[in-house]
This record gives sequence, structure tokens and C-alpha cells, in this order.
Amino acid sequence: MSTELHRYDITQESDFLQPRDFNRKTLLQHVDQVFRAQITNIIDLTSEEKLFHVRLVKDHQRERFTFLPGQFVMLEVPGYGEIPISISSAPTNKGYLELCIRKVGRVTSVLHKARRGALVGIRGPFGTSFPMEKMRDHSVLLIAGGLGLAPLRAPIFHVTENRTNYDQVHIIYGTRTPDQLLFDYQYEQWRRINGVNLSIIVEQPDEAWTGEVGLITKLIDDLDFDPANTYAIVCGPPVMFKFVCNQLSTKGVPMHRMFVSLERRMHCGMGKCCRCNIGSTYTCVDGPVFDYWSVMNLKEAI
Ligand SMILES: Cc1cc2nc3c(=O)[nH]c(=O)nc-3n(C[C@H](O)[C@H](O)[C@H](O)COP(=O)(O)OP(=O)(O)OC[C@H]3O[C@@H](n4cnc5c(N)ncnc54)[C@H](O)[C@@H]3O)c2cc1C
Ligand code: FES
Repeated sequence: MSTELHRYDITQESDFLQPRDFNRKTLLQHVDQVFRAQITNIIDLTSEEKLFHVRLVKDHQRERFTFLPGQFVMLEVPGYGEIPISISSAPTNKGYLELCIRKVGRVTSVLHKARRGALVGIRGPFGTSFPMEKMRDHSVLLIAGGLGLAPLRAPIFHVTENRTNYDQVHIIYGTRTPDQLLFDYQYEQWRRINGVNLSIIVEQPDEAWTGEVGLITKLIDDLDFDPANTYAIVCGPPVMFKFVCNQLSTKGVPMHRMFVSLERRMHCGMGKCCRCNIGSTYTCVDGPVFDYWSVMNLKEAI
């Protein structure tokens, strides 16, 4: 999505007097609409996270709704509010969206009490996406910490469904404890795909845990890959970006080939309300996906 349209240089008289698209109608025409949607299934993933299947009610809206890996929707719970949530399903899945939601506050707590059949609103999709086309023919590192597996799941689906377009694929996932691991029912499925490696690590194992123990950076240390031929997607808490991206950088992966998804509080999702900006950068339209080089140049981004 072009971000040029909403920037006017008010110091230039001609620009100020003749804005090209002052209400950003061109930019917003696809996203300034609330779709009625229904929660068709709810899956308990952990004590804090649930996976919601959300289906747009109107057939033509459902069929027309497309998104790219890394994009998000604004999910409205009528009477309570609207929140940004990453789309966690495969872009090829046309029937419903999968949204993995952690219970943290007002709106998410109401959602965690919702039953199948509940009606919600969906706006979007919003934001930038992971550049999967650029990554073609390269190896891809898909790295997530904690809830970061939710936004990472769409690029994982993309890469595994288009397996022949990519070289080696490494999925690396870490959480604090084993009971915080998300989507554990999919791990075997991913491991069985030729050329896909899945490594999992926890910081605090329980008695039943037989896997790796430590921080995610330990798995990256052990990883055998060619940095000159590799792209990386990193999703998780901001503190993780610094450690993981700096480690990848030390190993030789250029910063412009690492992509992260930044989270900020959002209200409109459309570059209108100034809730999400970092300086003059709007996380909702210029992001949430940024390459790490840009993030390093954004003051206080992480
Ligand atoms: C682009 C994007 C994608 C997201 N994807 C997901 C997702 O896939 N799954 C998911 O569970 N959550 C996701 N989030 C975070 C989610 O939007 C917030 O957890 C949600 O808005 C909280 O709403 P609430 O009313 O329940 O909490 P509130 O009552 O508003 O707040 C509860 C607590 O959460 C903090 N908080 C709220 N919003 C954010 C935020 N955006 N970033 C950091 N802290 C916040 C508040 O400061 C407060 O401490 C995403 C956020 C963004 C910006
Ligand atoms: S959320 Fe309103 S400007 Fe980004």
C-alpha cells in the first residue's frame, strides 16, 4: 500500500493549497468499512490465548476479502471497542480468518467469554506485509517468541504451501514455559515437510519437557545457514528483536533482509488518529512490518 498519499509538506504553499487526496479516500477506500462477521469456532490454545475462527457473514465480502502475510485487522466487539489483531491464517484460506488472541484487558477479556455464533465487526486488512516475493529462491528463517507465533503463522503457511519457491526453511520458536507453546498440534505437520526444520526451546522446563532449554538465541547459534542467501522474519516481544536481529547481523545477515512486526496502541488503523506514530512514521500504514534497518533508524521504535 502506498504511504505517499497522506503526506503533505505544509511548508510548500502549492502542496498545501492543492492537496492531492486530502481525505485520503484513495488510500482508505478498501478499509473504511466494517464487515459483519461471526465467530464460528473457538479453540483453547493455552490458559491465556484462544484461537477464533471469524467468518464474514456476506458471501461476496468473504470471497473478495484477501490479505498478505503480516497484515492485521481491526476487530470490533460491539459495545466494548475495537482492537488490532494479526491475521494468523493462511492467505489462501477463503472461508474464515483465524485470530489468535491473548486475554490482556477490556476487549480481549470480553472476547474470551464469547461463544460460537457471536457477531463481531472486522475492518481491514491493514498495514504492510512480509515481502514473500523478495524472499523467493532464498532460505528463510521464521523466528517467533511467545505470542509472536500468531503473526508468524501466515508466512509459515505461505512458505510451506509454496515450498518449491524457497530454499531451506527454518522455523524457530521459544516460550518461557512448555505450557505457553502455541499451536503445538501443528508441529509434526511442519516437521514432515521436506526442507523445513522446526526447533523449539523453553526457558523454564517442567518435568515432562525433553527438548531444548534456554533462550531462542541458543537455537540460532546452533543453526547452519548461509547468511548471504537468507531472509529472516522475527515476531515477538520488542526486547527479542534486539537480541535476535543483532545476533543474525553478527552472523552476516544484512539488516535490510530481516523483517519485524511492531506493535503500538492503535485506534483507527488508517493513519488518521495519530495514536500509533513513532515520529512521523505511522505503525498502522507504514508498518506494522518493517525491515530491521528502518527500525534501527526509528527513534524509540524498540
Ligand atoms: C498490528 C498489531 C497486531 C496485533 N496482533 C495481536 C494478535 O495477533 N494477538 C493478540 O492477542 N494481540 C495482538 N495485538 C495486541 C492487541 O491489539 C492488544 O492486546 C489489544 O488491543 C488489547 O486490548 P484490550 O482492550 O483487551 O486491552 P486494554 O484494556 O486496552 O489494555 C490492557 C493492557 O494491554 C496493553 N496494550 C494494549 N494494546 C497494546 C498494544 N497494541 N501493544 C502493547 N500493549 C498493549 C495496555 O497498555 C494495558 O497494559 C496486536 C497489536 C497490533 C498493534
Ligand atoms: S492507528 Fe490511527 S494513525 Fe495509526
